Amino acid sequence: MNVTEALNGRHSTRAFLSTPIEKEKLNAILEAAARTPSWANSQPWEVFIATGETLEKIKKGYLDKYAQKAQASPEVPRPAEWSEAAKKHQQQLRPDMLRDCGDAAGQFGKLNQAMFNTPAVVYIYMDKVLSEWSLYDIGAYSQSLMLAAVEQGLSTIPAITLVHYPEVQREVLKVPDNLKLTIGIAIGYADKENKINNFISGRGSLDDTVHIYE
Ligand SMILES: Cc1cc2nc3c(=O)[nH]c(=O)nc-3n(C[C@H](O)[C@H](O)[C@H](O)COP(=O)(O)O)c2cc1C
Repeated sequence: MNVTEALNGRHSTRAFLSTPIEKEKLNAILEAAARTPSWANSQPWEVFIATGETLEKIKKGYLDKYAQKAQASPEVPRPAEWSEAAKKHQQQLRPDMLRDCGDAAGQFGKLNQAMFNTPAVVYIYMDKVLSEWSLYDIGAYSQSLMLAAVEQGLSTIPAITLVHYPEVQREVLKVPDNLKLTIGIAIGYADKENKINNFISGRGSLDDTVHIYE
């Protein structure tokens, strides 16, 4: 598999099988992702992986929060407003999902709340003293991890809904106070029977986002 094949093979998966991930595959993915560049080789990613009963505790904690209609933690960053360009791209998401998934798109909210029935979540933390550059490094690390997963036949989704309530993970995973949660990436085998996984999100024309000067 070459890089372009991996890039084209990665899509966000929203329904996973319960099949656990083989340890050697997970290790291969983590070894590959560790090659990600970072400012002064600071390697700011602090990776906590929840599987099995530990993940069940986190899922239950989140379901309780949803049942209480709890607000997402103020720790979770949100833009005060989306840019016009971002809004233009976002408005295609729903119609494209309906086109590809039909009625199965109706499971979107429930599957998000159920953490996509994933058997594993990779939570990426960074030290609170670090700057936005470290978040840049963590974004790159996330993509490395997701591409390495494609090579291993595994599927992923990075999702804000996996990190709405960081206090739940902090308690279950005994996360030190100096770390803040940046993103969660669900990883596992895709449930190919579930049509929500048919969704291939579009991309705008390159002219919308790339400006080349000669
Ligand atoms: C930081 C980030 C947060 C995301 N949060 C969610 C989420 O909470 N729920 C969800 O279903 N998808 C989420 N996604 C997935 C995006 O919707 C998806 O990446 C985008 O539509 C492009 O589709 P693709 O990943 O299949 O190429 C998130 C993606 C990123 C990078």
